[in-house]
Amino acid sequence: MFKILEKQVFSPIIKQFIIEAPKVAKSCKAGQFIILRIHEEGERIPLTIADYDREKGTITIVFQEVGKSTTQLGQMEAGDYIKDFVGPLGEPSHIEKFDGPVVVVGGGVGIAPVHPIARDLKKAGNHVIGIIGARSGDLLFWEDKMREACSELLVTTDDGSYVRKGFVTDVLKEVIEDKGKENIPMVLAIGPQPMMRAVCNLTKEYGVKTIVSLNALMVDGTGMCGCCRVSVAGTTKFVCVDGPEFDGHEVDWLELGRRGAIFKPEEQKAMEHHQC
Ligand code: FES
Repeated sequence: MFKILEKQVFSPIIKQFIIEAPKVAKSCKAGQFIILRIHEEGERIPLTIADYDREKGTITIVFQEVGKSTTQLGQMEAGDYIKDFVGPLGEPSHIEKFDGPVVVVGGGVGIAPVHPIARDLKKAGNHVIGIIGARSGDLLFWEDKMREACSELLVTTDDGSYVRKGFVTDVLKEVIEDKGKENIPMVLAIGPQPMMRAVCNLTKEYGVKTIVSLNALMVDGTGMCGCCRVSVAGTTKFVCVDGPEFDGHEVDWLELGRRGAIFKPEEQKAMEHHQC
């Protein structure tokens, strides 16, 4: 059993937990994820690690309530226990000193997993330009942590309720134009699938390499069940063991979107049942 040590509510649907998980904290690296189950019968929820403290033996996760299981998770409180908390899983982010500024883009709840990657890229000596965005100012979180993790940070909101109005892609376009496409060795984007896809469409036009961290349905998390399969450069990959990060220009986004929608009716029913 894994104890929730702290809970923070960023908005009615976005919450942060600090979980006691010393073995995961000891070996995890930026970009990896965990799979948790609230109870014996619970759905497996994959979440990318947002932060960790090796000395305290804790892992930070930030999640958005999008269905029955994440809503139940959000109803848990500090002091409660989670049944399973397995990890670290997946391949860590590739960190190196790049020749030129790297851009990290976090959209919505994707700001959280971008954070440790930005921090490690900066630690490796890179000039890290962070772009974070949300639908509105009240859904934005970790601006202070991201400011610390990046060399410079640009903030935007879709509705203009905080800092400026625009999508993260609008800001990214300005950064690419300003720095010059040939000077940016890499963009890394994490967020909702439409956002990552929009980032990839934009960077493809400029020929700027783009890494995305995919969120797929998962069951075993060990490459055995095939649930998380995705087509990348025409070959089948498993997000849980080959990812979660992939070259965004090679991902088959249409197929990924279709697979993600397969269980929508069941999710809807489960949610309705939960609310009864
Ligand atoms: Fe089963 Fe990835 S979750 S293969």
